[in-house]
Amino acid sequence: MGKLRIGVVGLGAAAKNIHLPAIRKTAGLELVGGVDPAATVDQHAFPVFASLAEMLDKATPDIVAIVTPPDSHYPLICECLDAGVHVFCEKPFVETLEQGHDVIARAAAADRHVVVNNEFRFMNVHEAAYDRIGTDDFGDLLFISIHQTFFVTEETEAGWRGESKRRTCFEFGTHALDLCRYFFGEEPSRISARMPKPGRPEGADYLNLIQMEFSGDRVAHITLDRLSRGPHRYLDIRLDGTQSCIETRLGGQAEVAFGIRGGSKKPYMRLDFAPSGSAHLYQGDKRRK
Ligand SMILES: NC(=O)c1ccc[n+]([C@@H]2O[C@H](COP(=O)([O-])OP(=O)(O)OC[C@H]3O[C@@H](n4cnc5c(N)ncnc54)[C@H](O)[C@@H]3O)[C@@H](O)[C@H]2O)c1
Repeated sequence: MGKLRIGVVGLGAAAKNIHLPAIRKTAGLELVGGVDPAATVDQHAFPVFASLAEMLDKATPDIVAIVTPPDSHYPLICECLDAGVHVFCEKPFVETLEQGHDVIARAAAADRHVVVNNEFRFMNVHEAAYDRIGTDDFGDLLFISIHQTFFVTEETEAGWRGESKRRTCFEFGTHALDLCRYFFGEEPSRISARMPKPGRPEGADYLNLIQMEFSGDRVAHITLDRLSRGPHRYLDIRLDGTQSCIETRLGGQAEVAFGIRGGSKKPYMRLDFAPSGSAHLYQGDKRRK
C-alpha cells in the first residue's frame, strides 16, 4: 500500500510540537500541505494553502489533521467529511453534544473515520500503570485520584485559551476524563462536577471538582486547580488497587528527598529524576519504578 496523504489545518503550537514531528516520523504518511491564515509560505517546507477548500482540491489528502482552536473544529470536520476525507481532530472534539452526534452521523454516511487526539492514554507512564491493573502486585482498581495544580501566567492565558470561560475543563479536562475511562475500562455511570469561582464570578472555570462513578461503587475524583499560586504540578494521578497503589506524574521532576520512614524510623535519601514523567508502585512506604 502507498503512503497515506495527510494535510494539516492550523499550524500553531500543537502542530509544531506534536503533529508535524509525529507525521515526519510515521513512515506510512506523506505530508502534502498545510493551511493557516497566520502562516507564510517560507515558514514551512511543505505547500501552505490559503484555505482548507484549496488544500482539499489541490493537495488531495486522504486524511486531514485539524489542529485549530476548538470553536473551528466542527465546521472544518464537516468540510473534510463532505470532501470524502478522513479526519484526525485535536481535542476538545466539538463544542456541543448536537455537533458531536451530527459529526458521527456524517462520518457514518460518508464511510470515513473521525478520530480525536486523546493521546494521554498512550503515554508510556499511563500505559505502564494500566498494564499493572489486574496483576498479582496491584490487584483490582478501586479508586482514581487525579490532581492538577496549574500555575496560570499571562503566557498560559494568551489568545483563544484566555478568552474561553471553559478554559480548564473543556480544553484540558478532556484528558483527565479520558484517562479515567481508560483505567477503569468502561464508561462512567454518573458524572457530577462543580466549578466554583471564588473571587471571580465572571471568570473562567479555574477550579474543577469532578466525580465520575463506575460499576461496583468505584469512583474517580478529579481536581483541576488553576487558582493556586503554589508549585506547578501538571498532572499527578494515584490509582488505588486492592494490593498496592500506583502514582504517576507528568510534567517532569528532579528532586532529592531526605526523611525518616514512619513505620521503621529508618532515615532515607531518595533521588527522583524524570524529565517528562514517572510511574511508581507503592506498598506502604516501599516503592518500585
Ligand atoms: N493533545 C494535546 O496534548 C494538545 C496540546 C496542545 C493543544 N491541543 C489542541 O490543539 C488545538 C490547537 O491548539 P494550539 O495550542 O496549537 O493553538 P495555537 O493558537 O498555537 O494554534 C492554532 C493555529 O490555528 C490557526 N487557525 C485558527 N483558525 C483556523 C482556521 N479556520 N483554519 C486554519 N488555521 C486556523 C491559527 O492561526 C493558529 O496558528 C486546540 O484544540 C488545542 O486544545 C492539544
